[in-house]
Amino acid sequence: MKCRAFARHFFCLDMYTFSLSEYGDKSQKPSPVNQMTAAFSKDFRQGVDINLGVGYVNDETIPHSQLAECFQYVLAHTETYKNALNYGSADGSANIRNAIRNYYLRNAIGGVSPSLLDKKTICVGANGATSLLDSFAEILPKGIVITAEPNYYIYTETLQRKGFEVCTIPEDESGMRSDLLRKTLEQIDLEKLSFFYIVTVNNPSSVILSNSRRKEIVALATEVSRKINRKIPVIFDKAYEDIIFDTTIEKPLSGMMFDEDGLVVELGTLSKIIAPALRIGYAIADDSELMRALIQKTSDIGFSAPLINEEMAARFIDCHIDQHALKVRAGYRAKAEALQQLIQTHLGKYLERYSGGQAGFYFYLTFKQIETHPNSLFFAYLSRKTGNPAIDGNPMNPRLIYVPGCFCVSQNGPMKSEGQRQLRISYGFEDIPELERAILLMRDAAEYVSAQ
Ligand SMILES: Cc1ncc(COP(=O)(O)O)c(C=O)c1O
Repeated sequence: MKCRAFARHFFCLDMYTFSLSEYGDKSQKPSPVNQMTAAFSKDFRQGVDINLGVGYVNDETIPHSQLAECFQYVLAHTETYKNALNYGSADGSANIRNAIRNYYLRNAIGGVSPSLLDKKTICVGANGATSLLDSFAEILPKGIVITAEPNYYIYTETLQRKGFEVCTIPEDESGMRSDLLRKTLEQIDLEKLSFFYIVTVNNPSSVILSNSRRKEIVALATEVSRKINRKIPVIFDKAYEDIIFDTTIEKPLSGMMFDEDGLVVELGTLSKIIAPALRIGYAIADDSELMRALIQKTSDIGFSAPLINEEMAARFIDCHIDQHALKVRAGYRAKAEALQQLIQTHLGKYLERYSGGQAGFYFYLTFKQIETHPNSLFFAYLSRKTGNPAIDGNPMNPRLIYVPGCFCVSQNGPMKSEGQRQLRISYGFEDIPELERAILLMRDAAEYVSAQ
């Protein structure tokens, strides 16, 4: 026996591996974006290189001292915040769920009324909105997921690894095009439909979904659900909706306002408006089999977010969020205006168009001719991998990373070739002088590419 095990070990060493599930197998390799950012971060030089690829929020807007006060308050008031350092529940503490409800009603968020909200269940995820998105991919049947193009590449990549088929619908300046959505729904096998995933301030493009599009999307989802006699969930991910800072645009209405059949799940997060490290994301929807499964799935992962974070956040929402939100929006508005000016001045002549500057913290650029994908000269210039010693050689030459558009468009969709000329830059984290340095570097890269 021993001998056979030895022989197997000796002769078949290359086959002596773990067996993984299909998802496990596909997850062995970091995603293309993670590979790119890992390579960049490995030798990142603070103060020299610039990372406009990450989705970090503006550190200046994180309310450090108010959160410290909330922490102290929660621990000192055990009559309201019981056992805050103990295990939490599967759906979130009563305090945080009440705080979110009152935040909605005080600020008339989404235009929802108290009676509408009273009919809904609020459930807090284990680890931000990301964990809720992951849970949906576990509890919903494998099949087609409909989303906008360009798409939230982090989640669509996860979905594909989990065996879903992602079907993308191009957007215009009002968000996902409902005429193209209707056409697609006429063409696909509706029995294979799993869910709609709609990002209301799109990542990467920062395009804000208009109210009429929200209504049309819910109407189409209702039409197909009734046709196949199966409710197809419509997940509205409103991660960036709290940071719409352009006050001239219409106030967004919740998808729940148009929802006759209880298909809509509204997904929110405190990451962008308070702090990502709280890891609090929440879902609001009718109490249905879908929400019951979501809550059990959250319990399976290790309960909703750490109870102390939920209680601190509840206190913060009750006392500070309304004033704080104004400061956060003003901070992003100032950065957006400065960056927009820089983009127009230095990159304007190379660009076909761009979006962003009204909400969130991304600009999405489409170049006329310059390609931006990881094998392009533009990318090589900014990562100092051109092979030209004058560009790459000087160790003090800064490098810049962004998210290439090719990761945000479907490789067999209609925007594939446009995606090769697009990129997303994030202005959440870096301050304005660094953003200026970044745009000047991109201008240098554009000049270099044009001269070749
Ligand atoms: C569209 C979108 N949804 C969800 C999230 C994740 O939010 P959370 O920090 O709550 O996990 C992000 C984060 O960047 C996002 O861009």
